[in-house]
Amino acid sequence: MQIALSATRPGEVDCLAFPIARGAPVSPPIEAAALAAEAAAASRFTGDAGALVELFVSEGGRTLRVLLVGTGEGKAADLEKAGAAISARLLTSGVTGAAVDGAGLDAQALAHLGLGALLRAWRIDIYRTKLPEKAKPTLETLTLVSDAAGLAGAWADMEGLASGVAFTRELVSEPANILYPESFVARCRPLADLGVEITVLDESEMAALGMGALLGVAQGSVRKPRLLAMRWDGTGGAQETPLVLVGKGVTFDTGGISLKPGPGMEDMKWDMGGAGAVAGTIKALAARKAKAHVVGICGLVENMPDGNAQRPGDIVTTMSGQTVEVLNTDAEGRLVLCDAVWWAQQTYKPAVMLDLATLTGAMIISLGHEHGGVFSNDDGLANQLLAAGLESGDKLWRFPLSDVYDKLLDSPIADMKNIGPRYAGSITAAQFIKRYVQDGVKWAHLDIAGMVWADKPGATWDKGATGYGVRLLDQLVRDHYSAE
Ligand code: BES
Ligand code: MN
Ligand code: ZN
Repeated sequence: MQIALSATRPGEVDCLAFPIARGAPVSPPIEAAALAAEAAAASRFTGDAGALVELFVSEGGRTLRVLLVGTGEGKAADLEKAGAAISARLLTSGVTGAAVDGAGLDAQALAHLGLGALLRAWRIDIYRTKLPEKAKPTLETLTLVSDAAGLAGAWADMEGLASGVAFTRELVSEPANILYPESFVARCRPLADLGVEITVLDESEMAALGMGALLGVAQGSVRKPRLLAMRWDGTGGAQETPLVLVGKGVTFDTGGISLKPGPGMEDMKWDMGGAGAVAGTIKALAARKAKAHVVGICGLVENMPDGNAQRPGDIVTTMSGQTVEVLNTDAEGRLVLCDAVWWAQQTYKPAVMLDLATLTGAMIISLGHEHGGVFSNDDGLANQLLAAGLESGDKLWRFPLSDVYDKLLDSPIADMKNIGPRYAGSITAAQFIKRYVQDGVKWAHLDIAGMVWADKPGATWDKGATGYGVRLLDQLVRDHYSAE
């Protein structure tokens, strides 16, 4: 489905949607306005965000499908819910062209409605060769009808953001036989056309740099690891040091020799969700030409248990020089990140660095699928992230860090072990990464294990990949890391 803009109602649409605020009268500008009002009352429709009433009316001698859609309080999230409700209802309805009457909404509000519609319409059908006719998407174009000033600009911005979210969902959805470190890089290469500078390190380059932890994870797989850096500078050099984002990109996590149980292991195709969010954010920023300087780095490996795989008890030397006793090969994300964040700091000298990772199952136990967990050495940065989470809808909740947790990682034979005791597993994982954050760097770690994948549809996504993180990071960049 695509979004179009028009100052006047297109003649040939099969369906018209009317946004209605909570408590506002139902009087759409159609011949059958009275019928619409009756339908709304009979359906107990009061304009709640995303609420929907569908009716068929006679208009100009033909039958027209009408949607009354609630926009609640008119907040951005409410409008996105309204847009999502429209596209969810129409996507496979038989309707090919629909229009939204944007009168009464300003450009920003209508753009948010369009964003919700576009995001909710995203799906991946490339592997379906036998989709029943009635299950095939029909909706081709949703036209936002409005002459509001600034709509084209506001929409271009949202469309860029939506393209980033869609890219993340694509990466997260692809199975591990299709998406592995090299093919992940190949999918990101086209970002160069948007002005993104791409740098890729292969196995021998990483070995030369001493990335023993990342390479230790990769050594059990026939898929070769990659370190990918994507740099977007929309400031023309005005912001010298970039904001650095680092993503865990384990394209499949079997657990390695510390093998995971079989049931549910297929979920581990989305263990690259942190890297996926980083790549999608870079795409969003480049697509909407954000006036910001941001580098996205993805540590890409596959964690497999073959004859060359690392064993529990192996000791690896990280790029930082610190050594790690690998007591559990399934705690591999931190091993990938410790080398990726060290390289990121050596290479880009950031003042602020974030990492995103589907790092611990314990995070899902803590927060379920409502919030990602955030850990930070800086209260200001943590608060920026919490606020961006509320604003964007990609919510976060803060967890503690402290020396007492850090001590739990001490090893009798190396500088640290890669797991702590059973409890506080998300916190000890964060403490592990913190040992690789250099003095003076403001850092936050986002454990998004519960947010990357949804078993049921949500506000602006169907079940499957959510695209979590892109809107959060885009919002953070808008609020605090943009030149204007
Ligand atoms: N990728 C997993 C974490 C995960 C689990 C993400 C379920 C999403 C859903 C991570 O690599 C892992 O295996 N973590 C272990 C750590 C443990 C061995 C200390 C875990 O959470 O069990
Ligand atoms: Mn694991
Ligand atoms: Zn993992």
